Amino acid sequence: MKITDAFLADHQALYAKFDQLEKTIPSEVKTLAEVRIPGAELAAILAEHAKFEDDLLFAAIEEKMGSDESTKKVRDEHARIEILMQDVLGYLDDIKRMGHARRTLLQAIKVARAHFNREEKETFPLAEEILGEEKLLELGALWEEMRKK
Ligand SMILES: [Fe+2]
Ligand SMILES: [Fe+2]
Repeated sequence: MKITDAFLADHQALYAKFDQLEKTIPSEVKTLAEVRIPGAELAAILAEHAKFEDDLLFAAIEEKMGSDESTKKVRDEHARIEILMQDVLGYLDDIKRMGHARRTLLQAIKVARAHFNREEKETFPLAEEILGEEKLLELGALWEEMRKK
């Protein structure tokens, strides 16, 4: 599988999680645990997905382009999403900050949706164009191998 297709499949799975959280967090979630469990799970999945993009796909684009201009924005967005998710988990130590935790989690989801959209419209098509099918397949195989560890 091409690594771009693998990442698109990750996005689809995450969109389903986002939909579900956006539906339940504002109205149905009442306790810290109800935010902590999905919050911690989402933080871990987003961090792993971003790390594979940074280390495999963005690194390959940067190697080919000879500069990091094309990937700087998406790398910065990864850092921003990571900070928001850490804030969510930090707020969850204190019941009085439950509102902050919920709002920040919804904000992180909004930022992540816009970020995925940018990758799908700009970064992945750029990768398809400059790296070619063979390299994308090779990176996809590497991604599958690394995920097993
Ligand atoms: Fe990303
Ligand atoms: Fe992504």
